[in-house]
Order: sequence, then C-alpha cells, then structure tokens
Amino acid sequence: MSTKAERFGPLPKDAVLPEPVWTDSASRSEFVCSPKLPEGETEWYPPVMIGAGAVGSTIATDCKRYLAMAEGLLRQLEPDEYVEYLRKYYKLGIEKFGDDWGYVDIVTAVLGLSQILRPNSYLEIGVRRGRSVCALASLCPTAQISMFDMWVENYAGMDNPGPDHVNAELDKFKHTGKREFINGNSHETLKKYFTENPDAYFDMITVDGDHSNLGAAEDIADVLPRLSIGGAVLFDDTCNPNVAGLGEVWHKMLVENSRFSTYTYSDVGYGIGFAIRNY
Ligand SMILES: C[S@@+](CC[C@H](N)C(=O)[O-])C[C@H]1O[C@@H](n2cnc3c(N)ncnc32)[C@H](O)[C@@H]1O
Repeated sequence: MSTKAERFGPLPKDAVLPEPVWTDSASRSEFVCSPKLPEGETEWYPPVMIGAGAVGSTIATDCKRYLAMAEGLLRQLEPDEYVEYLRKYYKLGIEKFGDDWGYVDIVTAVLGLSQILRPNSYLEIGVRRGRSVCALASLCPTAQISMFDMWVENYAGMDNPGPDHVNAELDKFKHTGKREFINGNSHETLKKYFTENPDAYFDMITVDGDHSNLGAAEDIADVLPRLSIGGAVLFDDTCNPNVAGLGEVWHKMLVENSRFSTYTYSDVGYGIGFAIRNY
C-alpha cells in the first residue's frame, strides 16, 4: 500500500504510467476539422484546423474578458468557500494587472475551449458541485454531457451533494442537451462505460477526479482514445503543490505525445493543461 506522499507527491523517476490503447475508429470533431473530401480527392493538410497553443494564447491574452465571463458564471452558482475565494482572487488580479495578468484556470479554459471549439459532446471526470460542467453548458447549452463522479463526501472540506445539486446548477444555464451521471469509482466506471458504448467519442473531456499520480494517469489513459480527432482534453492542477506529481503526469502523457498539440499554464494558481488531438 503506497503512502499519501507517494500517491500525491512528486512523480517517482521510475514510475510506469499506463499507455492508452488507440484504435482507428475515432470520429472527427465537426467544427474543428475540415470536412472530409469526397473519395479520390487529396486532403493535403491534416484535418485539424486549430491547435492548443492558439486557443491557450487567446484565453491568456484576452484574460480580462474570460475572467468577466467566469465571474458571471460563479456568481450564479450556489456559493461555497472556494468559489467566493476565486471571485476575490479574480477581482484583485484584474485590478492589479488587467489583461497583463494572463491568468488561466479550469473555468476560463473550459469557457475558452467551449467558445472556440464548439463541442457537441462533453465527458467530465470529477464534477463535484458543477463548476466546470456549468462553464461548458453556459456556452454549449445543447451539448451532450456525461458526468463521472463518486461524490466523495466533504471533498476538499466542502459539501459534495451529488447529481441533484449538479442538475439544478445546469438548469440555471438553460442546458437542454442530454445529460447522464455515471456514479462510482472512475477506474471501474470508465472501462465499463466504454465497453458498453464502443462508438462513444467526445469533442471535449475534462480529467479532474482522482488526484493521485497513478489514478489521474489511469483516467487519462482510459479517455484519450475516446477523444474525437480535433477534440480537446483538459487536465487540472498542473502546478498545485498539494498534488506535486500531476504536472509531470501531464507532461509525460500529453506534452510528449505527438498525437496532440498542447497548452500548459503553470505560472500561478493551481495550473491547467489542455491538448487538442491531431490524429
Ligand atoms: C477537484 S473535484 C472536481 C472539481 C470540478 N471539476 C470543478 O471544476 O469544480 C474532484 C471530484 O472528483 C471526485 N473523485 C475523486 N476521485 C474519484 C474517483 N476515483 N472516481 C470518480 N470520482 C472521483 C470527487 O468526488 C470530486 O467530486
């Protein structure tokens, strides 16, 4: 049995991370990819027309606008201690630095990706009180949403009430797309779900559940093959000192992976990474 420090501390040099099992059948994200050409015509360029670097730089450069959107979103959610802290943090950063702040977090990243990539389908591991899923739903109200969580009681010292609470939050943003909750440990539920839904691919996926090094890596390995070509995967906490190995997990599994373009923000706060699948 590994200790807490081994699970959540820096990634050991000899750690072996799980490998995603790739298949040839991934669908193309409609808005992000060029349309498939008729049989016989040459597709000179790869289908994906925008990369993570461009999206990340837009979100960081236009940070004041994205933070205003994030503030509007957080104001509508049921308050909790962390959300109240974030709202003050945003206000202070903008007062001090304006757009020069360049701050990015999971909320502004989900908002930016949703606005720019227009995903039709979204999978989230780690929903908690619905903050990140509502960011998606606020801009993509018809998207299909699949939410995986085991609703760990009192997660991070705050109430974690479950699907009824998240449903009520999503209703505030007039989300009309199909929703499903898959309750339980993601290390069991994801594998079962993908076995039962062999054709399920998602335009956007957030991995923000199990924060242990190997647990987060397993979630990433499980979902990557089900990301559409041109779809985006987000990973929270790339520079959170409480989970020091996650930045390294992100780097090894996505930044070093030629299938993806990536953007990583690890300046301040807890950090965020996202990647767009090229093939
Ligand atoms: C950091 S919170 C998610 C925060 C949310 N994405 C947001 O932006 O507010 C992590 C969530 O993951 C869930 N979780 C932790 N380990 C899990 C596991 N192995 N399987 C499923 N859910 C898990 C917890 O119950 C918690 O609700």
